[in-house]
Amino acid sequence: MSARLQAVRGMNDVLPEAAEVRLWLEGVVARWFARYGYRQIRTPLLEHTGLFRRAIGEATDIVEKEMYTFTDALNDESLTLRPEATASAVRAAIEHSLLHDGPKRLWYEGPMYRHERPQKGRYREFYQFGAEALGYEGPDVDAELIVMCAALWKELGLEGIRLELNTIGSTEERAAYRQDLVKHFAAHESRLDADARRRLHSNPLRILDSKNPMVQEVVATAPAMQQYLGEATLAHFEGLQRLLRTSGVAFQLNFRLVRGLDYYNLTVFEWISDRLGAQGTVCGGGRYDGLFAQLGGKPAPGVGFAAGVERLVALLAESGRTPARRPADVYLVHQGPGTLEFAFAVGEELRAAGLAAVLHAGGGNFKAQMKKADASGAALAVIVGETELAADAVAVKPLRDDRPQRQVPRAGLAAQLNALLKGN
Ligand code: HAM
Repeated sequence: MSARLQAVRGMNDVLPEAAEVRLWLEGVVARWFARYGYRQIRTPLLEHTGLFRRAIGEATDIVEKEMYTFTDALNDESLTLRPEATASAVRAAIEHSLLHDGPKRLWYEGPMYRHERPQKGRYREFYQFGAEALGYEGPDVDAELIVMCAALWKELGLEGIRLELNTIGSTEERAAYRQDLVKHFAAHESRLDADARRRLHSNPLRILDSKNPMVQEVVATAPAMQQYLGEATLAHFEGLQRLLRTSGVAFQLNFRLVRGLDYYNLTVFEWISDRLGAQGTVCGGGRYDGLFAQLGGKPAPGVGFAAGVERLVALLAESGRTPARRPADVYLVHQGPGTLEFAFAVGEELRAAGLAAVLHAGGGNFKAQMKKADASGAALAVIVGETELAADAVAVKPLRDDRPQRQVPRAGLAAQLNALLKGN
């Protein structure tokens, strides 16, 4: 016997019940983005590997060990399944000169790929929706992006998602800080673990969010970024905080928050829930004013976020906020010569009138078909037997209450069914 085929590890099938929730959430998200004037952008799942290397940074976990990279043998190009979409959005904005007539608010939704160790809330294929505000200096749009997240959590009925906020300054400020940080960590090198030592010269800021208690002790006495921030950075950060306060959005300052991608400057933030275990960050983002130039474009500021769909769905399920399943309005049952063709045509008429109608397929006697009608959850059975066929009519049987079965002429059937569905 041949081995049973399974999905790739860390990649999930979204089965119909779960897919209905996802479809519903996508609708909520699309309407929410539209209310803030964000327009959708769709970029390919595959990009040239160099895009992510340059945008996310060589010394990040993503680029070092999590990218699905392969050589396209047909033209010997190195391609990568996108691990995130900010790089792609900025690449597209440069390629199509999207900012030629002013700044743009963009959003996207779709699968991302990271070769991480799978666990609850962490997958190798996962979905994000995200926003990128391109060409705005902020801090007004920084605040808008954060406030709109708060509005979405509220609309979804999700509670207990807290906001952590930090500023990581300008490139120059970070360079000065980095130098002193390396000095500090080098002086305590014997107490760093292998991971921290590896990062000492490539990405010392990432040592700040090490989970290792021994390393944390060294972090506790490290110089703080705050001492290196200049006036412009502080003014930006204060402007953002002022708008958040006016909007009534609570936040915690977390000076250790540095995020895992190298393109950030100034504002960084994360939305975190304590109800999801180790993978509690449902949304993260920040400003990336250097990214356009880094990718070869005309310099332009940018800021955005991305939210993890699986994590939000887990929160929705945990708090019982997923919508109830909506079964079809009608299940079409047919029995006798010529009735299939009739029911088939009636089904098309009902769908054209906007009703959800499921045709019984695959044969079976009347009783078996009625059982299927009942199990389908449909509100009404529309029955075509030889008598109905002869009368150019159908029999309608309400399945969820004890209203009697009645005969209804085919002409005007949709209107009659709509009345019955409303309870009349
Ligand atoms: P990120 O923090 O890498 O940021 O990812 C954003 C969110 O995606 C996370 O907070 C989490 O909810 C979800 N996520 C990340 N990795 C996984 C995974 N392996 N499994 C399930 N969910 C995951 C970015 O991707 C940036 N592009 C965000 C951004 C947009 N910054 C500026 N603009």
